[in-house]
Amino acid sequence: MTLHAGPPLIRFEGVAKAFGRNVIFSDLTIDVFNGENLVIMGGSGTGKSVMLKCLIGLLTPESGSIWYRDEEITAMTEVEQIQVRRHIAYVFQQAALFDSMTVYENIAYPLRAHLKLTEDEIGERVALNLARVGMPDTEQLMPAQLSGGMRKRIGLARAIALEPEVILWDEPTTGLDPSNTRRIAELILKMQAELKCTSLVVTHDMTAAMLVADRVALVYDRKIASVLPKERLAAEPPGSLIKSFVEGTLDL
Ligand SMILES: Nc1ncnc2c1ncn2[C@@H]1O[C@H](COP(=O)(O)OP(=O)(O)O)[C@@H](O)[C@H]1O
Ligand SMILES: [Mg+2]
Repeated sequence: MTLHAGPPLIRFEGVAKAFGRNVIFSDLTIDVFNGENLVIMGGSGTGKSVMLKCLIGLLTPESGSIWYRDEEITAMTEVEQIQVRRHIAYVFQQAALFDSMTVYENIAYPLRAHLKLTEDEIGERVALNLARVGMPDTEQLMPAQLSGGMRKRIGLARAIALEPEVILWDEPTTGLDPSNTRRIAELILKMQAELKCTSLVVTHDMTAAMLVADRVALVYDRKIASVLPKERLAAEPPGSLIKSFVEGTLDL
C-alpha cells in the first residue's frame, strides 16, 4: 500500500506518561497513516497497552498531544472523547464476553447502545460479522460452549460490528494455536482490505506481525525507538535495535 498519502490519521506528539514515579513514556512520537497496519512491538510492561489507552482517552498523558484527524484528543472533554471512541474499536487482550448472554446478544449489545437499528438490521449485522470471523450460525450458543479461540473471535465480531475506522488489537493472538493465529491475522488484513480500517496491532507473534504489518514500530527506552516499513526489516543491519528485538538479543 502507499503510505504517507495525506496527513496522518493519528499522531502522537511528544507524549509523556507516568504512574507516580514509574515513567512509562518520556517522549512518544509517531504518526499513523490512514489505512495502514502498524505493528507495535516491545518488551512486557514497556507501555504498549498504555499507548493504546491514551489514544482512546482511557488514560491521560502528563504532557504532549495526541491527534485524531484534525482533532486533539488530549484537549477534549470526556464527552468529546467518547464521540471519537465510536470510530476506534479496542480489541482487548482478554475478550470479555457477557457469560449470561448468547453470542447473538453479545454482538447486538454495542449495536443497540450506539445505533438506531431495527431488530432485522441487527440480526443481519450480527450474521455478517459472525461470517467475517469465520463463525457463521453460532448466534444461539452461550460463551461457555466456546473454546478460547472461538471466544476471542466473538469478541472481535463484537468490536468490528460497529464498522470502526481504527481497530486497536492488543495482543490478539496471545494464547492461540497457529491456525487460530493465522485466522486472526487474515481477519486484520480483511478489515484493511474490505473496510479500509487502520489497525494498530500490539503483538509478540512474529508470524502474525509479518503477515499483517505495513510498518513495524518498537517501543523501547520510553519512546518509539524505531519504526520502519516491513520490507526494510530484513535489510536492517545486525545489532540494530529492531533486529535485536526480533532476534531476542535486545536487553529489555
Ligand atoms: N492504570 C495503571 N496504574 C498504574 N500503573 C499502570 C497502569 N496501567 C499500566 N501501568 C504500568 O505501566 C507499565 C506499562 O504497562 P502496559 O502498557 O500494560 O505494558 P505492555 O507493554 O506490556 O502492554 C507497567 O509497568 C504497568 O504496571
Ligand atoms: Mg499490554
